[in-house]
Amino acid sequence: MPDWSRIFPEGDHRWSMGLRPADPANFFAPCDPTGDVVRERAHWLADEPEKYVALLPEAHGCLAETIDLANRWAAANGTSPIARDFVPADTAAQLKDLGCTWEADVVWLAPHADGELRVVGGIVCFPSSWALTEKLGLPMRDVHGPVPGLNLALGGQIERFLAKLASSSAWSRENWSLSRCAERNQHTSRPRAAFDERTPLEEVWIRLEHQLLMRLPTSGAVLFGIRIELVPLAELKSDPAAATNFARILKTMSPEAAAYKNFAVAREHLLEQLSR
Ligand code: HEM
Repeated sequence: MPDWSRIFPEGDHRWSMGLRPADPANFFAPCDPTGDVVRERAHWLADEPEKYVALLPEAHGCLAETIDLANRWAAANGTSPIARDFVPADTAAQLKDLGCTWEADVVWLAPHADGELRVVGGIVCFPSSWALTEKLGLPMRDVHGPVPGLNLALGGQIERFLAKLASSSAWSRENWSLSRCAERNQHTSRPRAAFDERTPLEEVWIRLEHQLLMRLPTSGAVLFGIRIELVPLAELKSDPAAATNFARILKTMSPEAAAYKNFAVAREHLLEQLSR
């Protein structure tokens, strides 16, 4: 079970940094014994790679460095390496191999000529209602532009944190949202069941994004990893403290934030069901 006291702390809703030191080898190590996650990734990457993979020319070094790290961590953990016998210029094959071996999504951010970090590429098969291609080339403030109030609350802190991120150091945090479907891939182009005024608790999942942020030692780029975890919202009722904290967060969220998260219309009914 996730650590609900960390994800839903006591108090009103607010956007928060919630960062803690992390071990990247552990974060990227395989943890799905069924193999379903990597099979699904292989499906999306074979089916519509143009939707799930993007790489600007300045990101080629980030990709090579990430594959090198992945292979070192795999050797240390005794897990499968990413293929090594690449034709040097075949970045499409490298992206596909990384994307089908790691269970986590990745995004690279590299300093632009003006020194500002921008999204330069990634492999994102399981986005939470966004699309990698729409974020390509953007600085953090624009990436977070659609999130109401986020830049005002945390934009400066996020920029300072990323600017000061030490070489090889890694941090993790979580985002959460609610979804009426248990699909891992919620790319903006895919149909998703919408919330309504009568949505039953049993049809709602808490969608957790476990995130890792790490400075790559050679290129100086930032590696951003995302792992999706889906937990039925009804399960929260078995942890009364977590259910109480969550209900307060849900209740105190601004109308704009609830609309951004797509559950504004269902908020009252979800609160009612949580309190029963
Ligand atoms: C310390 C660093 C960061 C913090 C505190 C942070 C925080 C957040 C928060 C609170 C949200 C709203 C999610 C929700 O509640 O539904 C969000 C959305 C998002 N974040 Fe971050 N984030 C960070 C770093 C990053 C990085 C490095 C990327 C890399 C590209 C990123 C990409 C996104 C995207 C794509 C979204 C969705 C935006 C949309 O809906 O269009 N974030 N972030």
